[in-house]
Amino acid sequence: MKRILFVCLGNICRSPLAEGIAAHHIAQKQLDISVDSAGTSSWHQGEPPCSNSIKVAHMHGIDISSQVSRPVTDEDKNRFDCVVALDGQNLSDLESKGFQNVCLLGDFGGYNGADVPDPYYFPGFEGFEKVFEMIERSVHDLIEKVNNGSI
Ligand code: 4NP
Repeated sequence: MKRILFVCLGNICRSPLAEGIAAHHIAQKQLDISVDSAGTSSWHQGEPPCSNSIKVAHMHGIDISSQVSRPVTDEDKNRFDCVVALDGQNLSDLESKGFQNVCLLGDFGGYNGADVPDPYYFPGFEGFEKVFEMIERSVHDLIEKVNNGSI
């Protein structure tokens, strides 16, 4: 089984969506891949995903409400085949912490390495729909590549 960890800053907005979308896709296609998510910070440790992420996932038939925020740990360095950062800052923070096998979600799905913008600071709900679409497209491409062995 291949193991993927999605990482953002707080593990309450973006990486919970990536984990939920990936888990949904993996279950639908019955793939031998497991997924998890974590934050580079422990600021929201123990909290559920933010309400707008829960809402946008629910609108797409995906339940992320039982996820719980946690920070990345040293054990994570050996537990995953692939650690996927949601933006460039997350990527450099992971590298500073000594993570290898790190990649950027925006390198998949045709986004040319773009950051997944942080919706935590968005004023309304609309931004979450855009972030959902970006994460969905890039996660589906990533999972396809992990599944066919090109990653
Ligand atoms: P996330 O969003 O990294 O997508 O979970 C954030 C959540 C919280 C904060 C920043 C980003 N914060 O500063 O508390």
